[in-house]
Amino acid sequence: MSAVPVTSSVTPFTQALDMAPWSQNHLQRVEQALSQWVGTDAPAGLGDAMRYAVLDGGKRLRPLLVLAAHEAVCSSAPGPANADTATRQAMDDAALRAACAVELIHAYSLVHDDMPCMDNDVLRRGKPTVHVQFGEAQALLAGDALQAFAFELLTPDHSLIPASTQAALCRLLARAAGSAGMAGGQAIDLASVGVALTEAQLRQMHRLKTGALLQGSVLMGALCGQAQGAAYDALSDYGAAVGLAFQVVDDILDVVADSATLGKTAGKDAAADKPTYVSLLGLAPAQAYAQQLLAEAHAALARSGLPDTRALAALADMVVRRSH
Ligand code: IPE
Ligand code: IPE
Ligand code: MG
Ligand code: MG
Ligand code: MG
Repeated sequence: MSAVPVTSSVTPFTQALDMAPWSQNHLQRVEQALSQWVGTDAPAGLGDAMRYAVLDGGKRLRPLLVLAAHEAVCSSAPGPANADTATRQAMDDAALRAACAVELIHAYSLVHDDMPCMDNDVLRRGKPTVHVQFGEAQALLAGDALQAFAFELLTPDHSLIPASTQAALCRLLARAAGSAGMAGGQAIDLASVGVALTEAQLRQMHRLKTGALLQGSVLMGALCGQAQGAAYDALSDYGAAVGLAFQVVDDILDVVADSATLGKTAGKDAAADKPTYVSLLGLAPAQAYAQQLLAEAHAALARSGLPDTRALAALADMVVRRSH
């Protein structure tokens, strides 16, 4: 990690950001776009399964990270904030598409994660899981279709988003979702049932299965703001810290929270003999580790040189302090 001092030309925003209206406004844009785009013309009931998997639930953390990273980069000058209106609108559109695309990949990963061949879960986002509601074959296809649609969303016809940006967003998302990211991490997860992993092995599993998509969200937002150099590197470090913290907290919540609060079955990790940060370190050290990662995330923002990282800071806090 490269430590880059905040340059003297940057005046950081010191006034607290009121996160409630910020989140409400951004969540509304994401929900509206997902509802408009997902599964509307899919045949033979597939659209219903896709919409069931994506709409009406979920914290939408990954989309919020995309939009917050985009805004953080746009808060600096010179940059796209100074670009002409058409360019700015195109990059805003790219950020919204990236926000939705990463949520589609996430939703697909949940559909498959819950299937009997993986974690065999019946409850997700407070509802029966997709395979319980629609059958295994339709759940498999809904996941497949959501994954494909994510990349279609990133490559719209007749768009002012530069082709190079579209391609770079696709590459970031593909990398985060594939064998070097989520899918690879899920493979390690399945191979690790009943296995005593070292901390380094567990960290690698968590970085891949969950961290990669969260870090990818931050990087896609940064790309839409045309971040470069030290700012991009610092945001990458922020994303890595938040991404790992997210799965550490997921492990903790599986132990300390109840199913009604989580909207998914609590206590599954121990029941399935999965290695987690709680099983490896114990509850209190796992909580302390999440706090350490939160501090790392804040430190990365501080060295980004970006004037307004308040939304990213608040999202990191939310990841570690959440109750579900
Ligand atoms: C759950 O993710 C799966 C993991 C990667 C641990 P979230 O907790 O973000 O799930 P939703 O989107 O809010 O349902
Ligand atoms: C899932 O991890 C990570 C994914 C890639 C979906 P978990 O299996 O711990 O997620 P939950 O607890 O079922 O949401
Ligand atoms: Mg799993
Ligand atoms: Mg699971
Ligand atoms: Mg879990």
